[in-house]
Amino acid sequence: MTGYDIDQIRRDFPILDRKVHGKPLVYLDNAATTQKPRQVIDRLVHYYEHENANIHRGLHTLAEEATAAYEESRRKAGAFINAAHPDEEIIFTRNTTESINLVANAWGRKFLKPGDEIVFSAMEHHSNLIPWQLIALTTGATLRFIEIDDDGKLIWDDALAKITEKTKIVAVTQMSNVLGTINPVRELAALAHAAGAIMLVDGAQSVPHMPVDVRDLDCDFLAFSSHKMLGPTGVGVLYGKRDILDAMDPFLGGGEMIKRVTYESSTYADLPNKFEAGTPNIADVIAFAPAIDYLEALGMDAIRAHEIAITQYAIDALAAVEGVTLYGPRDAADKGGAVAFNYGDLHPHDLSQVLDAEGIAIRAGHHCAQPLMRRLDVVATARASFYLYNRREEVDALVEALAVADRMFGNASTARAAAR
Ligand SMILES: Cc1ncc(COP(=O)(O)O)c(C=O)c1O
Repeated sequence: MTGYDIDQIRRDFPILDRKVHGKPLVYLDNAATTQKPRQVIDRLVHYYEHENANIHRGLHTLAEEATAAYEESRRKAGAFINAAHPDEEIIFTRNTTESINLVANAWGRKFLKPGDEIVFSAMEHHSNLIPWQLIALTTGATLRFIEIDDDGKLIWDDALAKITEKTKIVAVTQMSNVLGTINPVRELAALAHAAGAIMLVDGAQSVPHMPVDVRDLDCDFLAFSSHKMLGPTGVGVLYGKRDILDAMDPFLGGGEMIKRVTYESSTYADLPNKFEAGTPNIADVIAFAPAIDYLEALGMDAIRAHEIAITQYAIDALAAVEGVTLYGPRDAADKGGAVAFNYGDLHPHDLSQVLDAEGIAIRAGHHCAQPLMRRLDVVATARASFYLYNRREEVDALVEALAVADRMFGNASTARAAAR
């Protein structure tokens, strides 16, 4: 691919040089969090060495510089997803989880009532499930979910059946963190709107890995996390359409989010400050900007193309190993870079430990998607997940390490499972 120089990219990520248990690090846990390029690390240090001040309130030079840099990150985050009004429609939170909780509370408390329905999918991360369960308890609204088929794709007919005039919000992930499935959120948003509902997209996995355009999707909310897209931890984004955000009451109360306060009552600040109570995570928000710059310089289309290639390579390589069971779509064009699998009847935790001894970091467990695990009829899976700096050789290392696990735990376990 022209312009996509993986060796040069890897040189920007200091951690990729380290060894784990004497072996070169093979980092395949990118769906959990990604590594950070030098540009992001340097920006954090620069902020603390030269600009540290509280934002918005100060009139001195440091406060003005920090405020300008913070607001520049807001503009970049908004432009990255093509928000129409970044200065008002981008709210900084701590993570995707907090962004969704903000909507569930600030929108849900005001607009949901008994008999209303909240629709999500069978593959949601707990972050896009528990906030709705909690708000359903307090408002009397009912939860419904769209089923998936055995390939891990949403069943469209079930979406048509579940989204009705009772639906008030459809909240669905654009990319599953387990199966990698890419969901038709634009079509779901159209369905939601036709039913008089609004649409929230959980973009935690999609925004880092593919071009996402909120105006094209016509979603009402989009939630994502900086730490999954090269940026620092502790920074989440909530995009919301201006008129909907305007109509909502605040989520948290405190400093920064008010206009006028008496002992009895207050009026609230304009967007976005109404939703950013207290001192925000200034340093990390500022260091999120070079992460966005980095992704834009590579180009989201190029990143997506790289990930389709490496994901397909991984799917094919793993499928060729006797005893491996894969979950989710087999065609990488239909999914992001997360490949969930099991190996024989080895517990994924044991497998992860063996791989760690080989320097390979994967995820093992329920991936914060316990209902999905039950739907797949497993207690847990292993998951390899890729990003813009991963190479095919790392997939080869993973496959070779499976043989080590097999030797250690005995061929019988894999052969037995293969025969099932
Ligand atoms: C699909 C999805 N939604 C939400 C989240 C929650 O993200 P965070 O932990 O940054 O809040 C994750 C994290 O893995 C995720 O994969």
